[in-house]
Amino acid sequence: MERHLLSVLDVDGLIPDLLELADQIKERGRSGKYLPMDDMTLGMIFEKPSTRTRLSFEVGATQLGGHAIYLGKNDLQLGRGETIADTARVISRYVDIIMYRAFRHEHVRELAENANVPVINALCDLEHPCQTMADLMTIRERKFTLDSIKTAYVGDGNNVCNSLLLGAASVGMDLWVATPPDFRPDAGITEKAMALAAGTGAEIVITDSPQEAVKDADVVYTDTWISMGDEKETAAREKIFSPYRVNRELVALAEDDYIFMHCLPAHRGQEVTDEVIDSHNSAVLDQAENRLHAQKAIMLYLLGLVEI
Ligand code: CP
Ligand code: NVA
Repeated sequence: MERHLLSVLDVDGLIPDLLELADQIKERGRSGKYLPMDDMTLGMIFEKPSTRTRLSFEVGATQLGGHAIYLGKNDLQLGRGETIADTARVISRYVDIIMYRAFRHEHVRELAENANVPVINALCDLEHPCQTMADLMTIRERKFTLDSIKTAYVGDGNNVCNSLLLGAASVGMDLWVATPPDFRPDAGITEKAMALAAGTGAEIVITDSPQEAVKDADVVYTDTWISMGDEKETAAREKIFSPYRVNRELVALAEDDYIFMHCLPAHRGQEVTDEVIDSHNSAVLDQAENRLHAQKAIMLYLLGLVEI
């Protein structure tokens, strides 16, 4: 059985070890040779655009001694109707590990079920597990712990929010999610997060109120109101989400030393104002950088190149 990372749930229980490994990899930097992926190839399938995911995976594989190939969906026969299953079987004959950014979670799952190598979900409609690993790494780095931290996620209950819910529940971090009533995180994921939280002691609260969520928070997190694929709903969403904008007034309710987080790309003036994202509280560039370190740890674990 191959190891895959399709959901944060696939590494539940291993997150502290993976974060520790990511910290070590970050500390090592580029000094000395550390090339465990020597001769290995990462295939990167993208159905949607990307800046951070593409760069961090490609650079990460290269820095570990491996190699990455960018496979845009329409550059593959997948774009002309070759099945996901056949694509998975064929690609597995060439590469050692596959990363897939897809529109639909079922497609990531189908690829993994038919691949003979590990598959990483690099964002789909349901989850963004690599983002959560980098986010938890960033919070731990800035706040030195994940226990006794209150994180507030404000905005759309989307893929980033879903994975953060599972991550917070797994590691015992308190997470308050404030969304409009019709834009809650996925119900199945929320249920799983609540069950995990019962075991770890994480406090998970879902509310309509950004003020309630952000009050005394150590971390204030937001993401776009219009995810890739939601563009047709732009006008309606801009209206519905405007009370959820993270601005100076809202973050004034958080702890003085709160950190602001955003997976990026940011839509300045929509979900967050310039004065918040550009403030000294902002950790967004550390988050982006930590994708590199966290994903190196994930690849090494999935490839069985480290003991965890
Ligand atoms: N945060 C994130 O996944 O960014 P990209 O869409 O640029 O990869
Ligand atoms: N929720 C966003 C995240 C982008 C990295 C989207 O899916 O477009």
